[in-house]
Amino acid sequence: MTTATRVRPADAAGVADAVARLVRGEVVALPTETVYGLAADACQAAAVARIFAAKGRPPDNPLIVHVADMAMARGLARWSPEAARLAQAFWPGPLTLVLPRAAGAPLVPAVTAGLPTVALRAPDHPVTQAVIQELGRAIAAPSANRSGRLSPTRAQHVDLPGVPLVLDGGPCRLGLESTIVRPEADRLVLLRPGALPPEALAKVSGLPVVPAGPAARAEAPGMHHRHYAPTLPLDLDVTEPAPGRFWIGFGALAGDFNLSPRGDPEEAARHLFDALHAAERSGARRIGVAPIPAEGLGLAIRDRLRRAAAAAAWRSSDRSP
Ligand code: TXA
Ligand code: MG
Repeated sequence: MTTATRVRPADAAGVADAVARLVRGEVVALPTETVYGLAADACQAAAVARIFAAKGRPPDNPLIVHVADMAMARGLARWSPEAARLAQAFWPGPLTLVLPRAAGAPLVPAVTAGLPTVALRAPDHPVTQAVIQELGRAIAAPSANRSGRLSPTRAQHVDLPGVPLVLDGGPCRLGLESTIVRPEADRLVLLRPGALPPEALAKVSGLPVVPAGPAARAEAPGMHHRHYAPTLPLDLDVTEPAPGRFWIGFGALAGDFNLSPRGDPEEAARHLFDALHAAERSGARRIGVAPIPAEGLGLAIRDRLRRAAAAAAWRSSDRSP
């Protein structure tokens, strides 16, 4: 049976509707400052199962647990001083911390996919903050897209079966997922570059930010999965137009959709998924993306585009079903 999806404004009545549904064990798509998330009560096994079903998400890929603040997060993980300092500095905001899960944390096992760790984040968005506070406990929320596909940065991008409600909070302010780190005593392991640049983490913590090596990737099963696949093949570092190719521009290379005419990586991050969604709808046969400088948020943008190109190539190969 399919559920009809209702998109409604994220006003007080919309928030109340979302909370009532979460209490009943339904899933609800909510705006955050990064991307839209698909939320469920993290304490209800049937509700969390609905997230995996709606997304077609492999059960070995854990979910980020969203809290209102540090007070709500305290009982869910074992907090080191380094971790607490980062939360203090960057929450609410686009930072996800992977920490040892607290014994007795009231989270259903599927949320953490059986791992001894838990990923925690306090989103900086009034709507999702209001939902979490009215619910009074944490929500599990991956990005609200089919597993492996483009992340949604507008309510209209959310297209999932079995989701009765999407709260429309307009376009996401940052447009790129949170940065995921695992804090250690002497370094921060970067599990996913994202909307918070590594330079900011290094400055506040005084610790080096190191990319996750193969060992760390083995602890984070989600990192193996393919991500951000557009329905069209994607070419990187494209500097000229070509027939049938939707050109995503940057700076002076305007293209068909300019990520940032003034060449600002933050602005480009905000528009990236919107541009990819627009390219898919354009009727073009391929997507090309202008060069993005590999500094600041440019690193996270390039990470997404590299994965998108690889995932699109895989989709169109024989291995694709
Ligand atoms: O900005 C965001 O982080 C958005 C919004 C909705 O908050 N959420 C998001 O969730 O991007 P998702 O599920 O699309 O990506 C979460 C990533 C996955 O790659 C998952 O494997 C990883 O976080 N993750 C979750 N729990 C983990 C854990 N305990 N250890 C390592 N990685 C974990
Ligand atoms: Mg995702």
